[in-house]
Amino acid sequence: MKNKTIALTLAAMLAAGVAAPTAVIAQPIESGYQEALNQFDQKAIRKIDVDRIYNHIATLSEAPRVAGTDVENRAVDYLRDEFKSYGYDVEVQPFTYVGYTEPTRIELDVPGHEGELNPGNFTYGISGDVTAGLVDAGIGSPADFEGIDAEGKIAVVQRGEFSFAEKIVNAADAGAAGVVIYNNGPGALNGTLGGHDDRFVPAVSLSQEQGQSLLQHMNGNPGAEARILVEGAETGEHTSHNVIATKHPTNKKKDTGEVIVIGSHMDSVPGAPGANDNASGTAVTLELARAMKNLPSDTEIRFASFGAEELGLIGSHHYVSELSDTEKDRIIANFNLDMVGSRDAGDLIVASVDGEPNLVTELTQKASAKLNGEPTTRGRSGSSDHVPFHQAGIPAALFIHSPLEPWYHTPQDTLDKISKEKLLDVAEIVAAAVYDRARFDNQNPKDKKRKETTVPKEAFFEQSIR
Ligand code: BES
Ligand code: ZN
Repeated sequence: MKNKTIALTLAAMLAAGVAAPTAVIAQPIESGYQEALNQFDQKAIRKIDVDRIYNHIATLSEAPRVAGTDVENRAVDYLRDEFKSYGYDVEVQPFTYVGYTEPTRIELDVPGHEGELNPGNFTYGISGDVTAGLVDAGIGSPADFEGIDAEGKIAVVQRGEFSFAEKIVNAADAGAAGVVIYNNGPGALNGTLGGHDDRFVPAVSLSQEQGQSLLQHMNGNPGAEARILVEGAETGEHTSHNVIATKHPTNKKKDTGEVIVIGSHMDSVPGAPGANDNASGTAVTLELARAMKNLPSDTEIRFASFGAEELGLIGSHHYVSELSDTEKDRIIANFNLDMVGSRDAGDLIVASVDGEPNLVTELTQKASAKLNGEPTTRGRSGSSDHVPFHQAGIPAALFIHSPLEPWYHTPQDTLDKISKEKLLDVAEIVAAAVYDRARFDNQNPKDKKRKETTVPKEAFFEQSIR
């Protein structure tokens, strides 16, 4: 039956002209996989209250939770207090990273120049206010600066051949007080300097067209001057936090020593309330912690909320980097919930970094087949907090709905777009999947030894999630 559904879905997608999956490795589903929910699954999902999940999202998505800000800190406090109120030991793990604040004001004034100049910023560029003569410095190589006097001047440099940072440092070495870098092709120039460097001088970018117009002005007006003004740019150390609640095995004698991490990121991008990305995953993590608190288990379960994911998975990288080898060996699975409640996104995907099945996808497909009559589709994706776990050799997968909703990373990622049905579906699948492994192996006398996880052969859609 499932076989047919997938074939039809694919046919429908192709007929509708929907972007086809980049590759399809479709295998027939073995029929007869109609196992019903057992008592352990029922136990695992029984206490999940979707209204609680929804209310957490409402609280968390009042404002964007940008890493290192007061709003993210308030989310940290909220998570810690919630976990504690369920009866958990909670660790708040701080970490620092170098962050960049974009300038609030950026100007390039060239008296006498006709036509508009719309300067852009370079990430990691510094603030400053420089008024000086302009000098054409070619592509900004050391050789270019040998032939000119750039001392105290603003060097006008073309993009290309080597990095923006190198051009600025070369200019600074030649004594320049500021730099204008213009594009060598169509379009605006939005670049990064890769990181902070004490040698930087204030720099702005221009389009190719505006750069050429500036050079023309300089040629016609020897001694032409300009003012570069960059205000509010700042590179500095910031602090963010991970919050981890631990459910210890309920009977020390039966402790398997194994650990399962259910995780999600709490931060959002600037300007986005992040109801789906990722108050949804954070809220499901909280509710799973509450609902699973008193389940008899032989496996440790950690409920983790990571900070600064949107800046490059910084919190989860920090968490994994702090684990000893023994601790890493104990972690058998990472379930990463990121964007699990949008009514406007597609179906649930369980995506590993390499697209291969692993313990997480297997437990998930087994649980979802029992809950929904068909296993969750597998996919391949990086771009979230399961990546550091995967890199440490830990079976890990991302739970996300695909294709993404149009509100992704926008101010419209708000509570009104959240589907309780989707939240509950993911929460139940993850609870049943985790508990399949975390329950006592011999709790049921008839079930002395846990059967190895087996899942039906399934269709695999390699989806491009965006
Ligand atoms: N919630 C997204 C996860 C995601 C995964 C989106 C796959 C789309 C496809 C996550 O918060 C995110 O936006 N990640 C960044 C990358 C990250 C390394 C900063 C992204 O995908 O741009
Ligand atoms: Zn996210």
